[in-house]
Amino acid sequence: MSREEITVLLGKDWSALQTLIADTLISDIGLLNLVNAEILSHGGKMLRPMVTMLVAQACGGIGEDTRLYAAATELLHNATLLHDDVADESDVRRGRPTMRSRLGPSRAVLVGDFWLARAVDLLLKASTRDLVTGIFSKTLSDLAEGEMLQLEKAGSAGTTEQDYYRIIYCKTASLFETAGVSGAVSAGAPKELVDAAREYSSALGLAFQIKDDILDYAGDGELGKPVGIDLREKKITLPLLCAMKDSPREAEIRKSVLEIDAHPENCEEIRKFVAERAGVEAAGVILESFVDKAVKALEAFPQSRYTEALAEIVRYNTVRNK
Ligand code: IPE
Ligand code: IPE
Ligand code: MG
Ligand code: MG
Repeated sequence: MSREEITVLLGKDWSALQTLIADTLISDIGLLNLVNAEILSHGGKMLRPMVTMLVAQACGGIGEDTRLYAAATELLHNATLLHDDVADESDVRRGRPTMRSRLGPSRAVLVGDFWLARAVDLLLKASTRDLVTGIFSKTLSDLAEGEMLQLEKAGSAGTTEQDYYRIIYCKTASLFETAGVSGAVSAGAPKELVDAAREYSSALGLAFQIKDDILDYAGDGELGKPVGIDLREKKITLPLLCAMKDSPREAEIRKSVLEIDAHPENCEEIRKFVAERAGVEAAGVILESFVDKAVKALEAFPQSRYTEALAEIVRYNTVRNK
């Protein structure tokens, strides 16, 4: 099932979501409206609201709260990207110059804050809000903690495997998890299905970030953002962690990462090391295990076109190049 087919499957709920997002962002500040329209006209894949809506359908049906949570997750996601591009000093996103590079970091952060605040407004409108505000607020701290831990670890080139999984859970999987769980809650799902939604969407989120990290080593330039940038930012991700595992060169490689600012040519040597030690392939095997875990969690739901679509979204992670 393609992305297009999934949006057709979601039908009018999918189009209602686009309208809700646009309406939610209206402001009487001209500059803000201009920037918001610009971001919306070059939107992303909208995977998180897709997960919220498909999970709700798999649990019995989409309602008003589903639309509110779906829109909130997409707004939050965009807020984190605006902030992330400031934290990472990134120049290109979705094939275009980042807001950070166009407006400067202060404005980019403020636009991100606005999207975040409007996401909270949406949550407060939901009749089941008492059941989800806790998970949304946990995700908000996870996001900040994940990005801070990543920056902290980049400063010492000390990222361990344990740090890596905490970082990717916090910065990416936590929001996917909230997208899935809030979808289940919005449909009044029983506890077993809420738990299955959590298991599915957190494994999906981990798989998604691992794939993003693999593509940073192995991407073919269709990503809409540059490749090879993680290493340049001293981020030690799964392909390099796998390559360093049981290698006598680990300490030397970490030192080489630490000195990358002064010696950008170290990147090439480290990439060669990752290639020789088949780090990307090893990370791919771990990615598959999360894909399997997510697909397995779907067995708890009655089989339908919606569970098929959810499985497809996970599998797409193993093949996507953008
Ligand atoms: C990018 O997420 C950030 C990561 C978690 C890797 P997406 O790839 O879902 O971003 P868009 O919204 O489709 O651009
Ligand atoms: C993605 O982190 C997670 C968040 C946006 C919070 P990355 O820094 O790896 O994402 P990209 O590569 O910039 O999309
Ligand atoms: Mg980034
Ligand atoms: Mg990345």
